Amino acid sequence: MILQRRNRILRQSSAIRSMVAETSLSATDFIVPLFIDEGNDIKTEIASMPGYYRNSLDHTIKEVKELWSMGICSVLLFIKCKDELKDNTGKEAWNPDGLMQRSIKAIKDAVPEMLVMTDVALDPFSSYGHDGIVENGKIVNDPTVEALVKMSISHADAGADFVAPSDMMDGRIGAIRQGLESAGHTNTGIMSYSAKYASCFYGPFRDALDSAPGFGDKKTYQMDYANRIEAVKETLMDIEEGADIVMVKPALSYLDIIREVKNSVSVPVSAYNISGEYAMIKAAAKMGWINEDKAILETLTSIKRAGADLIATYFAKDAVKLIG
Ligand code: PBG
Repeated sequence: MILQRRNRILRQSSAIRSMVAETSLSATDFIVPLFIDEGNDIKTEIASMPGYYRNSLDHTIKEVKELWSMGICSVLLFIKCKDELKDNTGKEAWNPDGLMQRSIKAIKDAVPEMLVMTDVALDPFSSYGHDGIVENGKIVNDPTVEALVKMSISHADAGADFVAPSDMMDGRIGAIRQGLESAGHTNTGIMSYSAKYASCFYGPFRDALDSAPGFGDKKTYQMDYANRIEAVKETLMDIEEGADIVMVKPALSYLDIIREVKNSVSVPVSAYNISGEYAMIKAAAKMGWINEDKAILETLTSIKRAGADLIATYFAKDAVKLIG
């Protein structure tokens, strides 16, 4: 055959392939979610997330130091609230001496340059396990937004670099930006979970924080997975209200949404490779059905290729080791 064009020329060796690769991963792409528990010397493996732990603050600090030494520069904090501190107002969420606030300070003291992002939503603090305040069986928007503003300001007071509202209430980004401004936190950023879908893949995370909803589901605030255009609407509104970074969550069943959002905005886009996505790879690898290392790299590269500038992932450390 005499062919005018042979596409396989660019695939014939690993040197050529890496030279022409369109997408590559690096340590600074990753945001590492950390689950923090009260107490000392506590390290609890999460049953549905093998190899991932809920740590007391002393172990968390060690972990953060290690992450920084690996070139990873941001963490996203989640705390497990004691049952006796949970109520329907979620007020433990803005306790200046709460576990979240103490954790932010301790991490910033230990590794000042590490970017500390904090989850802003009431579910870990809610006796109902919902992201908002409940009245007559409904999640009420505006009182919840007021609570989220207090929570955000308390995180910024403690030293958070970014607050990350993951609740999907209406108008919360604008209210949080205003709250931060009036409290003098002009350097605190907002990474908004702009297009967050009601997903079955959050299950293992809710095990980690014991935060599963006590009644119903989250479909009156999180998005319907049948929708694509709505994701763009939500994201553009968040940007107008002041979001510095936007997020699509989950990632894997939503790669089309990541691309759609990436093409519609001019702020950095993040994606959350969530707990259920982690659990599926771990389970299949444990069965010997897939190669875990290859699955991690292929998954994370696909999320980046779809358009994510940043990826929140439980695989961050594995990935950094694998990309060397
Ligand atoms: C709650 C929150 C959830 C996650 C992050 N923040 C769960 C939910 O909305 O029920 C999920 C993260 C994961 O599954 O890895 N505001």
